[in-house]
Amino acid sequence: MANHGDWQFEIYLNGLTGEQPSLPMTHAELERRAEVALSPEIWSYVTGGAGDERTQRANVSAFERWGLMPRMLTGAAAQRDLSVDLFGRTLPTPLMLAPVGVIGLCEPAGHGDLTTARAAAASGVPMIASTLSQDPMEDVAAALGDTPGWFQLYPSSDRELTESLVRRAEAAGFAAIVVTLDTLTLGWRPRDLAIASFPQLKGLCLANYLTDPVFLSRLAAPPAEDPQAAVGHWAMIFGDQRLSWDDLAWLRSLTTLPLLLKGICSPEDSRRAVDSGVDGVYCSNHGGRQANGGLPALDCLPDVVDAAGGDAPVVFDSGVRSGADVVKALALGARAVAIGRPYAYGLAVGGQQGVEHVLRCLLAEAELTMAIDGYPGVGALTRDALRRVG
Ligand code: FNR
Repeated sequence: MANHGDWQFEIYLNGLTGEQPSLPMTHAELERRAEVALSPEIWSYVTGGAGDERTQRANVSAFERWGLMPRMLTGAAAQRDLSVDLFGRTLPTPLMLAPVGVIGLCEPAGHGDLTTARAAAASGVPMIASTLSQDPMEDVAAALGDTPGWFQLYPSSDRELTESLVRRAEAAGFAAIVVTLDTLTLGWRPRDLAIASFPQLKGLCLANYLTDPVFLSRLAAPPAEDPQAAVGHWAMIFGDQRLSWDDLAWLRSLTTLPLLLKGICSPEDSRRAVDSGVDGVYCSNHGGRQANGGLPALDCLPDVVDAAGGDAPVVFDSGVRSGADVVKALALGARAVAIGRPYAYGLAVGGQQGVEHVLRCLLAEAELTMAIDGYPGVGALTRDALRRVG
C-alpha cells in the first residue's frame, strides 16, 4: 500500500487544475461543518460532555503539554511502519473507531452504524461497535468485511441480557469484547438537559435490545405494539449499577474472546483489571461525557500502562484530534488509539467518505510526523520521544 502521507501530493496535483478538497482538512473546520449538518438535538448529544465540559476540554489541551523530540538521519522517512500487534493480529495502523452510541443518527438515513462499518471495511481501521446502535450488531458485523470489529458492551442490570449480548457478539464474529465501566449510570450533561433531549428515550439506538430474545422475553407486548413500554423497560435495565470487581470472574467467564475494560484511568484499577484476567485495558474518560472535574485521560495513560506492565496492551481514547496526538499517545504507551467525536463529525459532514476522510487525515499526519521526526515505526515511539512543554 502507498504511504498514507503521499495523499498530500494527490491533493496538491489536483490543485493544479483548480480542484480543492471538498471535505475539511482541520478538526476545527470539521466541527463547524458538523454543527451545521446535524440537528440541534444530535449536535448537542455528540459534541457535549459532562458539567461545564472542563474535563472534555482538558482531554484535548493535555496533548499540548507534550512535544515530540525530532531525531535526524534514522531512515524513518523511508520506512514508515504504522502497524501494531494486538491480540495475536497485526493491524495495519494503531487507529481505531471508538464506540459511539447514536453514531447511527449522525447521518440522515439513520444507518450510521452500518456506514461507519463500511468505512472501517474500506480503510482497514477496526470499529468498536456500541451496544447502543440503530442497526443490530449482526448487521454491523456483516458490514465490516475483513476488517476486525470489537463489540462494546454496556452491562445491563438484567444479567441474562448481558450474557445474551455477549453470546450474540461472539456469534456475529466480533473479535473482542470491550466492557464500558464508566456508564453504569448517565453523566450530568447540561447541554442535553437544557433542551430536554435524550435520544434513547425516543426509542432510538436500541436495536440491539429490541432484537434480543432475552430483552423481548421480558416485555408483556412486542415493541411494535407497545413501544413506550419497551423503552421504559430499557431505561430500567440499562446500567448494572451493582457491578463490582467481584463480578469480574463472571464477566470473564462469558467469553473466550479478548476482554477489555473501558474507562480505566487509575493505575490501581489497571493492575486489578489485569489481575482479574482481562486481556486489555482501555484507558478513557469517555471523552469527558460522564464525569466532569476529572483528570485529562492522557495524563492518566502512563501510569495505567505501567500498572498493566507487559501483561496487557492498553488502548487509549479521549481528546485525540490530530495525527500528532495519535503519535503522542503511542509514545506514552498506548498500543492502539481510538477516536470518537472526530469520526462522528466526519460521518455527519460526508457520510462514509467523511469517516474515511477523517481517518486518512489522521493517518497521513501521524505517518508524516513520525517520518519527519525520525521514528521509523510504532515500536520506536517510547517516552524518550517526548518532552514536557512549558
Ligand atoms: C461516546 N462514547 C461511548 N463509549 C462507549 O463505551 N459506548 C458508547 O455507546 C459511547 N457512546 C458515545 C456517544 C457519543 C456521542 C460520544 C461522543 C462518545 C465514548 C467514546 O467511546 C470515546 O470514549 C470518546 O468519544 C473519546 O473521546 P473523543 O475522541 O470524543 O474526544
